[in-house]
Amino acid sequence: MDRRTLIGIGAALALAAGAGAWAQDKPKDYTNRMNLEVDYIPSRPEVVEAMLKLANVKAGEKIYDLGCGDGRIVITAAKQYGLTGVGIDIDPDRVAQARENAKKAGVADRVKIEQGDVFKAQFADADVVALYLRRDYNQKLRPRLLEQLRPGTRIVSHEHDFGADWPPEKHLKVGNVDVFLWTVPAKK
Ligand SMILES: C[S@@+](CC[C@H](N)C(=O)[O-])C[C@H]1O[C@@H](n2cnc3c(N)ncnc32)[C@H](O)[C@@H]1O
Repeated sequence: MDRRTLIGIGAALALAAGAGAWAQDKPKDYTNRMNLEVDYIPSRPEVVEAMLKLANVKAGEKIYDLGCGDGRIVITAAKQYGLTGVGIDIDPDRVAQARENAKKAGVADRVKIEQGDVFKAQFADADVVALYLRRDYNQKLRPRLLEQLRPGTRIVSHEHDFGADWPPEKHLKVGNVDVFLWTVPAKK
């Protein structure tokens, strides 16, 4: 092997090592992934609290969390406010985790966790619906929400609204996080 070939191989190896290090060090790019799917990002406890308070939840009511993650919203609603709850998530790992969490919290008899797609889900008996998805998911869900839900049902959403043509009734900030409230209007 001549000297130039050796230098070439050395440079290629150095580049490969550098690229490896860069790929490892690079922070996870949620922005791009968010374009493909809704990632699992749990609501912080104070945000869960604010969502439930903004929805004015009452004992005996039924809450759905569409995309429930580890079940924290429905579990908190059951444990602290006396609601029954249904959490729906597409990810089987989240479903298993949420079921386990409901058991640990002692509310498995009042909290049902289902595996399913929010765009196919049935939630007509909800008094409150919680969302932490994405604005385009909310917008796509809107016709299903308005078709299934009874007038007066409250919808609370963490971070994302439904767009300018359905402004929220209330909006508050928990630190830098937005929480929105809508009430399902009377059917036309
Ligand atoms: C941002 S996390 C919110 C989790 C939980 N609601 C909370 O506030 O802590 C969104 C969740 O929605 C779930 N998800 C995404 N797309 C879904 C779909 N089409 N149907 C059901 N769940 C979905 C994800 O698996 C993830 O757990």
